[in-house]
Amino acid sequence: TYVVTENCIRCKYTDCVDVCPVDCFREGPNMLVIAPDECIDCGLCVPECPADAIFAGDEVPPGQHDFIALNAELTHAPGWRPIVRTVLPLPDADIWNGKAGKRALLER
Ligand code: SF4
Ligand code: F3S
Repeated sequence: TYVVTENCIRCKYTDCVDVCPVDCFREGPNMLVIAPDECIDCGLCVPECPADAIFAGDEVPPGQHDFIALNAELTHAPGWRPIVRTVLPLPDADIWNGKAGKRALLER
């Protein structure tokens, strides 16, 4: 399964959702995740992300492996809902894109 990682936080560009053939993205306040049981591993979303935040499960960068479990957990978290159409990114997305240490800023 594919995984949304740290650099999505506070960006949430949402370009990824338009191309997903199975609509398996879920939206939280400042990040999206991928429902692991629904992703069909097509890889279409990867080049769409301006933040390069999406990776195949076996290619998740060092230090970000906790996002595999986090995607699974947040898929079913209260308030996290399916998102199937691209919407405007968060207002300061371009400023936050690439910043280190965003993990602590995740809102649930
Ligand atoms: Fe959707 Fe394909 Fe990305 Fe999985 S890899 S989230 S099925 S676009
Ligand atoms: Fe996040 Fe990239 Fe999608 S920033 S919302 S994974 S396009």
